[in-house]
Amino acid sequence: MRKKLVVGNWKMNGSRAMVVELLTDLKARAPWPSDVAICPPMAYLGQVQAELTGSSIAWGAQDVSAHNGQGAYTGEVSATMLTDLGATYAIVGHSERRTYHAENDQLVAAKAKAALAQGVVPIVCVGETRAEREAGHTDAVVQRQLAAAIRSMGARIGEVVVAYEPVWAIGTGLTATPEQAQAVHARLRQQLLAATPAAAQMRILYGGSVKADNASQLFAQPDIDGGLIGGAALKADDFDAICRA
Ligand code: G3P
Repeated sequence: MRKKLVVGNWKMNGSRAMVVELLTDLKARAPWPSDVAICPPMAYLGQVQAELTGSSIAWGAQDVSAHNGQGAYTGEVSATMLTDLGATYAIVGHSERRTYHAENDQLVAAKAKAALAQGVVPIVCVGETRAEREAGHTDAVVQRQLAAAIRSMGARIGEVVVAYEPVWAIGTGLTATPEQAQAVHARLRQQLLAATPAAAQMRILYGGSVKADNASQLFAQPDIDGGLIGGAALKADDFDAICRA
């Protein structure tokens, strides 16, 4: 039985005041039936570490450098630094970064490998666009994206979290149906099982307009092990409801 994992991706939202207000509220709602984590903007990761240390809520980053340690990589944050900040997770390959920062499968795989090398669990995002789905290319796209991570990670792929985020469902209110999501999750699980038996225990999260009123139907699917939550993670009541779905 895989324990559910719900991760809040705050994206480029937040403030010092919001960190205090939202996290104070969420800490008071423990215990949680699922594993819970939040990924704030990098600017607030130190404050989040201070707020959440000793709580049952983990935290992570929304990206990580493919380069580890220290070095001449302006603007980047290494996995070594994330461990210094107590981060458990790093989201890699989010479609917004693949789009706006031209992150290809190879770079995403290198970021995931760099994170895991420092003990930070990568949440590897895959997902198709509307055009790719309508052209019948969903499986080919997500399996190609995942294959790069499998090649890069080798046997350690079993230590990774995967997130299926159909691009057409992100921020649109157009959630994939439980059946649509389960179909892709099942194929991702089969692809992972071919790489390692540990895939039976891997968590594959769904992301894309998960809300309080649809989370339970999605999470009831056999290969959906929780969610990667955007907008709804910014509201304590909504995020709480999803974590308990
Ligand atoms: O990483 C999660 C995010 O892409 C989903 O966003 O607002 O559709 O829940 P949202």
